Amino acid sequence: VDRAVADGRPSFEQSWRVAAEIPGWLTTAQARVLWEVAYSSDSQVPIVEIGSHQGRSTLVLAAARPPGQPPVVAIDPFIEHVMLGDATTQQSFERHVSDAGRDSDVRLLVARSGDVLKEWAEPISALFIDGKHDYWTVSDDLRWSEFVVDRGIVMVHDAFSSVGVTLALLRHVLPAGNLRYVDRTASLVRLETSPPTALDRLRLAAQLPWFARNVVIKIALRVARLVGYRGTPDPY
Ligand SMILES: C[S@@+](CC[C@H](N)C(=O)[O-])C[C@H]1O[C@@H](n2cnc3c(N)ncnc32)[C@H](O)[C@@H]1O
Repeated sequence: VDRAVADGRPSFEQSWRVAAEIPGWLTTAQARVLWEVAYSSDSQVPIVEIGSHQGRSTLVLAAARPPGQPPVVAIDPFIEHVMLGDATTQQSFERHVSDAGRDSDVRLLVARSGDVLKEWAEPISALFIDGKHDYWTVSDDLRWSEFVVDRGIVMVHDAFSSVGVTLALLRHVLPAGNLRYVDRTASLVRLETSPPTALDRLRLAAQLPWFARNVVIKIALRVARLVGYRGTPDPY
């Protein structure tokens, strides 16, 4: 943290003070992981974020990068969805980025990740996947990992929490030859673009009991909401 203050970048705490005000799902511990990854990834090479919503995670990633470097590429079609936003979400995103003074550190692409991928040809220093959570979209989003530099980090949100995200990880990361499970902070998984060992694969599979627990909690919350309960959010 002091190291970051010394080289002119805001510390995690300073960055999070701004981003935490923005509505979103990222927890403090997960934001710290994003910040650390963005801080230590190659600043000459862009970071890509899939699913930006109102900019909570985008601003954490952008604040950890040295000013004047390739921006964080934020991809979001701003879909209208009961939980994920409406016609005003893009304006909220733009206002949050602007208010934080980060206009030149963020490049917004209003598009679906799969459509951007068809045209994409640049290396990526780190990737954050937090877009649409169905199996097919996450499967496509994991293909962005092919652009991540060797030993770069791929972060996936709602892993072992959302069914679609979890199935995509099991189908595409468990057997992968160049994507290894590193760890998770609640539902934020860190993968590295390097060959996995048998132990790495085993550690990924060992998250399944936690997934089962989350599914049980989600079902219980759905049932409780049907009868009027308005408390605890889903486990993220
Ligand atoms: C869970 S929110 C992202 C939260 C954000 N990362 C944060 O920390 O606040 C998911 C976002 O994914 C976007 N999304 C939906 N489909 C997408 C797609 N195909 N490509 C990229 N983003 C998508 C939604 O519009 C929504 O804003």
